[in-house]
Amino acid sequence: MNICKKKSFHDVQYFELGYGWVGKPLMTTHFYYVDGLLIDTAQSHMKKPFIQIIKNLHIDQVLLTHHHEDHSGNAAVVKKMKDVCVYGHSLTIEKLKRGFKILPYQHIVWGTAQPVKVDPLPHKIETDKYGLIPLHTPGHSKDHTAYLEKSQGWLFAGDLYLSSQIKFFRADEVFGDTLQSLRKVLRLDFDTLFCAHRPQLKNGKKKIQEKLNFLCDFQGQVHALHQKGCDIGSIKNQLSVKRGKKLMVYMSLGNVSLTHMIRSALQTQVSNLHYQFSPKISK
Ligand SMILES: [Fe+2]
Repeated sequence: MNICKKKSFHDVQYFELGYGWVGKPLMTTHFYYVDGLLIDTAQSHMKKPFIQIIKNLHIDQVLLTHHHEDHSGNAAVVKKMKDVCVYGHSLTIEKLKRGFKILPYQHIVWGTAQPVKVDPLPHKIETDKYGLIPLHTPGHSKDHTAYLEKSQGWLFAGDLYLSSQIKFFRADEVFGDTLQSLRKVLRLDFDTLFCAHRPQLKNGKKKIQEKLNFLCDFQGQVHALHQKGCDIGSIKNQLSVKRGKKLMVYMSLGNVSLTHMIRSALQTQVSNLHYQFSPKISK
């Protein structure tokens, strides 16, 4: 069962797409459209509904928040159909030049992103009515970029937020960078958080603060337990945070897990203290 929903907020139209391989989609993703500008392009498994949506939109330019396949999945399609530039961070350009490998669960949930030529981001992305400033916000991925529309108080946040209480990290996510990126956007004025998975139309900045508080608290607990001599397996069992769905961990073959989140939280302090440490990982 697939999901395809259209919603709007002021001038912004946004679309929620989910692909159900068996039954309901495990996750959905959102892409946004405002004043001729498309932000992200959904997953390739939803190429047909995506084409149906964009054929009725006047698109001048496309922005990518990062290279992940649920954001860049149809970038090649829209570029060809509308003959427009797709803009992204320099690392997004590199990733999408030749395409990138994904894991079996990503094939099932999202599908592969075809290679596409991505152009470097201008300092400001202008439409007739709006202006968006790119903000490099790594952590979730090295190339992650959010876009601020200052006059409207909109932040197109890609996967910077996701939830106030994160339960998993991907193997390549970096805890310390995530904290810095959250702090970076908290210095800005915005209220609407156009997240790719859980849009927050009001109090978006508060939501980002909640996530930062949660992660700092998490980091504090992890380090306190580590100092008592606990290894990652033991830390996992003693944390007060709610555990996420085990299905996600099994399906991703461990690529997405609480273990990665703990390890990265420990490594954050390591780099600050400038000494080497390799925590023991138990699955
Ligand atoms: Fe992502």
